[in-house]
Amino acid sequence: MEHKRTLITTALPYTNGPVHIGHLAGVYVPADIYARYLRLNGREVALIGGSDEHGVPITLKARKEGVTPQDIVDRYHKLIKESFQGLGISFDVYSRTTSDIHHKTASEFFRHLYDKGEFIEKESMQLFDPEAGQFLADRYVTGECPHCHNPRAYGDQCEACGTALAATELINPKSAISGAVPELRPTRHWYLPLDRWEPTLRHWILDEHQEWRPNVYGQCKSWLDMGLQPRAVSRDLSWGVPVPVEGAEGKVLYVWFDAPIGYISNTKEIFPDTWEQWWKSPETRIVNFIGKDNIVFHCIVFPAMLSAYGDGFQLPDNVPANEFLNLEGDKISTSRNWAVWLHEYLADFPGKQDVLRYVLTANAPETKDNDFTWRDFQSRNNSELVAILGNYVNRVLVLTHKYYGGTVPAPGEFTQADLAAFAEVESLTRSLSDKLENFHFRDALRDAMGIARLGNRYLQETEPWKTVKTDPDRVATVMYVNLQLVASLAIALDPFMPFMGEKLRGILSLEQMRWSDIGRRDIIASGHTIGQPELLFDKIDDEAIQAQLDKLEQAKRTNAIENFKPAPQQAPVSIDAFGAIDLRVGTITACEAVKKSDKLLKLTVDDGMGGRTIVSGIAKSYTPAELVGRQVVFVANLPTVKLRGVESQGMVLCATNADGSIVLTAPAAVATNGAQIK
Ligand code: 2FM
Ligand code: ZN
Repeated sequence: MEHKRTLITTALPYTNGPVHIGHLAGVYVPADIYARYLRLNGREVALIGGSDEHGVPITLKARKEGVTPQDIVDRYHKLIKESFQGLGISFDVYSRTTSDIHHKTASEFFRHLYDKGEFIEKESMQLFDPEAGQFLADRYVTGECPHCHNPRAYGDQCEACGTALAATELINPKSAISGAVPELRPTRHWYLPLDRWEPTLRHWILDEHQEWRPNVYGQCKSWLDMGLQPRAVSRDLSWGVPVPVEGAEGKVLYVWFDAPIGYISNTKEIFPDTWEQWWKSPETRIVNFIGKDNIVFHCIVFPAMLSAYGDGFQLPDNVPANEFLNLEGDKISTSRNWAVWLHEYLADFPGKQDVLRYVLTANAPETKDNDFTWRDFQSRNNSELVAILGNYVNRVLVLTHKYYGGTVPAPGEFTQADLAAFAEVESLTRSLSDKLENFHFRDALRDAMGIARLGNRYLQETEPWKTVKTDPDRVATVMYVNLQLVASLAIALDPFMPFMGEKLRGILSLEQMRWSDIGRRDIIASGHTIGQPELLFDKIDDEAIQAQLDKLEQAKRTNAIENFKPAPQQAPVSIDAFGAIDLRVGTITACEAVKKSDKLLKLTVDDGMGGRTIVSGIAKSYTPAELVGRQVVFVANLPTVKLRGVESQGMVLCATNADGSIVLTAPAAVATNGAQIK
């Protein structure tokens, strides 16, 4: 069925920190590409975003900083909203779950299910922190995962193996508030009996949506095959939407119950009168963009909630979930500061929003986890955006000004080569559109860039600069064709790189861009005047990349220092055993690197006894030049050993820091070489 409109939702990010490239690659960049693509097709679209402002991660952060949860969400909501805007994510609304309209909508949703008898109410034993005097929901408790034995699993999920957990399943649970060992206490909660909806969900997903991405379909199938259980939709917490039932004081809706309702509240906010047609009309197609950790909530829990509500609520038509993006080979982590934060990227690379959008799409984790590296970022910018795309567009624009003063020339008859070029753009566009319709953004981008590759090839083969004097008619045709290719490129790449699209649209003075124009032979008419060429992209140098790598290195060091745990103390030794170790002071008089080793330095040490050579593994922390003249403490009575062919007559004493760096020990003031240390 041809749909009248598309409602695109994007997972609402938690406001306990800024957004990073993992969020962008997983959800917001692909959703924005899709929305922009549909808009260029003249389709009616609403791109819905907003902040998820409830939940334990937020209250935990507030507690850690000694501020209120409201302070935390205000801070990050603003930062996230502004940085999305900075990257050109074209939300029609970006609201928040602390808004009145959301509280009202979520509350009414719960009450409606409650009144219809869609919940089971039951008492169960839950973990309670006797010191803090409160129940420990979700991330308020940590402990060992019963499945993979990760010692730092949370009360709602183990991030190591991805399993969803109940807090009571954790082995050796510990309160994240006080560190206390929790006890079990009875409490009443409302449960949504997912099992009641199992046949509906089974049919809807497994029969009707076999076209979903294999990762999404597979995860749903395994949930359904395991059998669904009732799920608690309330919590004993104070931060959240209060449970709208008498006698439910001190209880709020579970964050995963209220957050997806946020999509509805936010739609209501922009379409107060017509929001129902976006949610309840079969003429609307709903698409939820999410990360893989959100699949169960969007494909099982929220659809069960909507089905239980009834009243015409439609289920999503697709839930394109991405896998995860890693950073420099390591899992992105907010708590370890191992991330590229969007607001920092925008500050560090002003005007380069499209580069990030491009790299995240070219490397999108659509079918498997992928890795973002700064070197890849640099090379994709320099050798693809600058060398292929920017260079082609720039040459065409410059030549048009040089030959025709910026006016599009009139073409003569098209040759086979010209027709072949148009045909190739058409076929690339068909493939590109097909891929976008089916959420294959990475491959779609490759097709769109194919137009730039084709343009470069066409320009290289036709060589207008060689024949402009001798065959001006042919050159006019060639330049005309090139200008149409550039116009096609501007439109085809616009969803992916809207800043570039807009700039090029301005230079080409295109009144508007329509997807159906791509590949046309007359997007820009002859006689039309174009603006001055401007470089679309410029090179990113090694220095800028090194600065980012240094930032990450610094994060690693800080993290290692914060988490440093001194090695356990060794078994006791007798004073005699200690006395048998001959520790002395010496001065380094010469130093050089040991050949074929990046760790070892050869030290010549004045030991007050005629001198000796000591080989030491400190090359990563010291240069030879800075060591000469320094005093050190060394063990004088170790057996001589050969290290990389060099005899070492002792060992200098060093401390290894939390971040792996090494520092030499030395007497506090100048001491006599050969003096013993006791
Ligand atoms: O995983 C998360 O970051 C959640 N805050 C996503 C919520 S999506 C929706 F349901 F609101
Ligand atoms: Zn686990």
